[in-house]
Amino acid sequence: TWTTHNVVEEQIVAIREQVGDKRVICGLSGGVDSAVAAALVQKAVGSQLTCVFVDHGLLRKGEAEQVEKDFVAATGVELKVVDAQERFLAALAGKTDPEEKRKIIGREFIRVFEQAASEIVADAGAHGEAVEFLVQGTLYPDVVESGGGTGTANIKSHHNVGGLPEDLQFRLVEPLRKLFKDEVRKVGEELGLPSEIVWRQPFPGPGLGIRIIGEVTRDRLDLLREADAIAREELTAAGLDREIWQCPVVLLADVRSVGVQGDGRTYGHPVVLRPVSSEDAMTADWSRLPYDVLARISTRITNEVRDINRVVLDVTSKPPGTIEWE
Ligand code: XMP
Repeated sequence: TWTTHNVVEEQIVAIREQVGDKRVICGLSGGVDSAVAAALVQKAVGSQLTCVFVDHGLLRKGEAEQVEKDFVAATGVELKVVDAQERFLAALAGKTDPEEKRKIIGREFIRVFEQAASEIVADAGAHGEAVEFLVQGTLYPDVVESGGGTGTANIKSHHNVGGLPEDLQFRLVEPLRKLFKDEVRKVGEELGLPSEIVWRQPFPGPGLGIRIIGEVTRDRLDLLREADAIAREELTAAGLDREIWQCPVVLLADVRSVGVQGDGRTYGHPVVLRPVSSEDAMTADWSRLPYDVLARISTRITNEVRDINRVVLDVTSKPPGTIEWE
């Protein structure tokens, strides 16, 4: 029978068997999947695991601090932080195609990892042990959508599956491969992770990079980060965090529209609110958020974020729309 306890016990045995006495690294993305995967592996092989947190500059506001503080406090895991913001911005310069952006982010992510891994080995000293395994928080829906499960057509190259480069030097440990999101949260609770992490809404590996429609630049990231923080703040204040699956905020960076503020004409960018309800992200419906919450988000974003003068609501279900815009 399926119980969270059984899943944890089973995975711990499987991880120990796969990994043996080798060293493992795990990338923390800031999301629940990588956190739960890391906590599972930490429980299975303890100090053989080192977590790496790549700050690719595509994160939401406050996210780096949350990983560095909350997660480390909860698990006692060893964490190496890599600041790779410049590198990702350089690699993404001039790129606008969604699949190309996803592949670049996935590729750079792994390269930074490989570098971090060799540094970890070097730091480990004279033994020079190889880091052979990489933990990924791949979920069942990721496997299916990338065509790895039941042979469904490839819809998007997911950061965790399709975006891996051919010269990948690690073998993968994917303890969540059979699980849906709600099951991952239960496993997280079983492992004693704090509820801010367990109940954090899903956030894609490529981060804000696939929520800027158009080229990714530092200025655009700063705009989107502010707008996203406001939306999250208001949704939390309204007590809607657990009711909605997630609410991507998308910056239409190549679109401008005319607005007015005070006596002045503005010519700014729109952001899209994409609140969705879902069980497993494979299908989704747009969330009927209360109008007053939408109004507060809209007013605050247009007042507080310079260059954003319009907020629009995405009322498309999945299918036909995917949850993310890219
Ligand atoms: P879509 O846009 O395909 O998204 O309807 C389904 C769910 O997956 C998340 N998502 C990702 N998660 N790596 C991830 O870990 C990715 O590359 C990725 N792309 C999308 C998305 O936020 C939604 O919850």
